[in-house]
Amino acid sequence: MKNIVVLISGSGSNLQALINAEAQGQLGGRIALVVSNRKAAYGLVRAAEANIPTLVRTLKEYKDSGKTREDYDRDLAAHIEATQAPDLIVLAGWMHILSPAFIDQFKGKIINLHPALPGELDGAHAIDRAYEEFKAGTRTRTGIMVHHVIPEVDKGEPILTKEIPCVAGDTLEMLEERIHAAEHQILPNAVRLVLQQGDEAL
Ligand code: GAR
Repeated sequence: MKNIVVLISGSGSNLQALINAEAQGQLGGRIALVVSNRKAAYGLVRAAEANIPTLVRTLKEYKDSGKTREDYDRDLAAHIEATQAPDLIVLAGWMHILSPAFIDQFKGKIINLHPALPGELDGAHAIDRAYEEFKAGTRTRTGIMVHHVIPEVDKGEPILTKEIPCVAGDTLEMLEERIHAAEHQILPNAVRLVLQQGDEAL
């Protein structure tokens, strides 16, 4: 069975989609560990309810004890490797930019969900920015993607993408809801695809 480690920072609705896909035998692996960089992330509750081990580690704790961001990433990588030897690391709403050393350690095994199309709206608050552009009349659609992770934020090779229309009369909440619903479909599919491709490459 393939080991999947999921990194989250918030609600974890995409983690839930992965948990549901696994329960239906459609993920191609098992979620072996959920990591959060925020103590209050609701995704931790979702993981506990599904009996998945969790790890909570905040950057603030590191900074408060005089350590660096690189220390945080190095320790996190070591912990993940030691406990689960992951076949795939999934960033599902993980709001922390990983340092090149972390990415290098798990080369080709990290994928990220981002609520924008390739080459558009890289970085944080992509949905808010898409909505602002829609309201300003300069955007009629946005999208989502799952992509391989490289050190350049949101620039890795796309695995799956989907356009999402902005519809006249949309509130930000309506657009967000449409985006999240599509994410919950695309993320489990991308995980299954990447794990299958890994098998074919053997
Ligand atoms: C998702 O919309 C995901 O695309 C976004 O965070 C949300 C997490 O929702 N990720 C990023 O913006 C990364 N740049 P969730 O916690 O309910 O899964």
